[in-house]
Amino acid sequence: MCGIVGYIGKRNSKEILLDGLKELEYRGYDSAGIAVLQNGEFSNFKAVGKLINLEEKTKDFITKGFAIGIGHTRWATHGKPTELNAHPHLGESSYVVHNGIIENYAVLKKELLADGVKFLSQTDTEVIVHQFEKNLKSSKSAFDAFSKTLKEIDGAYAILLATKSQPDTIFFAKHGSPMLVGINDEGEKFFASSDTPLIGQAKEVNYFEDGDFGYVNPSEIVIFDKGSNKRKANFKKLSQNRLSAQKDGFRFFMEKEIYEQSDVIADTLMGRLSDSEVIFDELDKSLFDGINEIKLCACGTSYHSALSASYLFERYSKIRTSVEIASEFRYRDPIMSKDTLFVVISQSGETADTLETLKMAKEANLKTLVICNVDNSSMVRLADSCILTRAGIEKGVASTKAFATQVTIFWMLSLYVAKLRNSMKKEEITKHILLLREIPSSVKVSDEMHEKLTRLSKRYLHGHGFFFIGRDIFYPLALEGALKLKEISYLHAEGYPSGEMKHGPIALADPELFTIALLPEHMLYEKSRSNVEELSARDSTICAISSLEFDKADDFIEIKKSSHYMLEFFEMMVVLQLLALEISVRLGNDVDMPRNLAKSVTVE
Ligand code: AGP
Repeated sequence: MCGIVGYIGKRNSKEILLDGLKELEYRGYDSAGIAVLQNGEFSNFKAVGKLINLEEKTKDFITKGFAIGIGHTRWATHGKPTELNAHPHLGESSYVVHNGIIENYAVLKKELLADGVKFLSQTDTEVIVHQFEKNLKSSKSAFDAFSKTLKEIDGAYAILLATKSQPDTIFFAKHGSPMLVGINDEGEKFFASSDTPLIGQAKEVNYFEDGDFGYVNPSEIVIFDKGSNKRKANFKKLSQNRLSAQKDGFRFFMEKEIYEQSDVIADTLMGRLSDSEVIFDELDKSLFDGINEIKLCACGTSYHSALSASYLFERYSKIRTSVEIASEFRYRDPIMSKDTLFVVISQSGETADTLETLKMAKEANLKTLVICNVDNSSMVRLADSCILTRAGIEKGVASTKAFATQVTIFWMLSLYVAKLRNSMKKEEITKHILLLREIPSSVKVSDEMHEKLTRLSKRYLHGHGFFFIGRDIFYPLALEGALKLKEISYLHAEGYPSGEMKHGPIALADPELFTIALLPEHMLYEKSRSNVEELSARDSTICAISSLEFDKADDFIEIKKSSHYMLEFFEMMVVLQLLALEISVRLGNDVDMPRNLAKSVTVE
């Protein structure tokens, strides 16, 4: 995802900015840029692709003495990864870098265009700098113009802005995207969107709170809170351990990624919901013309999200949907009919089996769509259309936030198709849009829940196997819960449809068989409950996850009451991820790099 750096001081600004951006590379990006203001003049450089391209472009650029500078790595959301769309964005005499999305950019852009302002990029970010310059003309100071601009933009952001009208100052704002400022004994000031770029440079850092804005110059750090009250910076010593800084204080990347789900899902949704419809600017509406079936194809966790999607597409979009395991599909001479939309799902976009099925679909002249987390990956380049999940780089081998964002996309896509096919009433879609907006809060990890799962995990370190059971869309979630546990605990676990247990697996039931039962209040609760009672009567050890108390369980994990089964789905997903994590930790396994597994499986 995008990264921001900034610098105020006398050392080689170019190098400090580029070094800072290098530390943010692990987050993923597709273009980068810097702008340095020295002796009243800006120097600006941008490049598509890796930072080495930006280094090449700046090789003859030397800064000596005092300067201010801002830099950015961009992960495309609005507009393709091109040089023009890369940050920093220029107004007449100011530059801006921005993480997040300006939701009302289209309205502001229309007004600015009507005023004769020329736009160079397709980004939402560019409106910030033009709006600032418009305000500057009628404001007492650059800071007044900046504050006014913040009141006019909606959305989530971390912003740095530098302007010739105040050449020793960087203006900042944080609302929903991370940002911090660092200081050292030499009087230098640094900005960044995470602490890694500041290690080795700053001694102490202040993490801005949501709603903070203000300005920094060589002698001052001025911060206002969301109520526009001046507040003191709260500097803390910066740890000098780079790897642990990348983990933002979490023990493992997987843990960090579980906690990040609320933010990344907010990114997945951003700009894609109006009050009454789902908007996928990246899709041509004709993609669904003449389509009577959706075929989803993937491996592993992505296969589980595809299975979840099949329930949503048939229920809401009323379209026939089939799901295929890529390694099977490749070799079974499948029938490919032209009225099928072929959809591949992949975190990496490089999984060999999935990629091969995409090639097969292309050869058979099927329309193709990829749901992917990595822009410019092989699948993204090959498919006719693409929806990016915007989960940011996923480092833990056991996928968590990628799955969460894939299911979010599928829920949205099922409504998008429902609208095209008139299979849902407008009011129903509107209701779902409100529910979609609730996902970020339903996946927030509470201390209470995490502590409970840590305590509980000690009872599940042995036994002769786990059955994760669920019905309807909770069956793919059960499969995913079992896969998470297998991958990082090395314990045997299976996902099973609750109603299928009595057709064989119930023979295994005894106290050493652990059943993790998904009991959503809003999806076939009574049916699932009787399936679990059958297992409880045969003495299987039951761990039930539900918002409704269940007295037949040995352990009970209570989730929040919610109004819809999909919100229960997302909350249970987090419970399963944390349970697997804590069991693995107790067993002393390598959570982030489990044995025998690779993050991206690029071989058959
Ligand atoms: C999930 O935890 C995995 N490690 C694995 O199953 C993964 O989902 C699978 O290899 C597919 O990867 P992809 O999404 O990058 O295509």
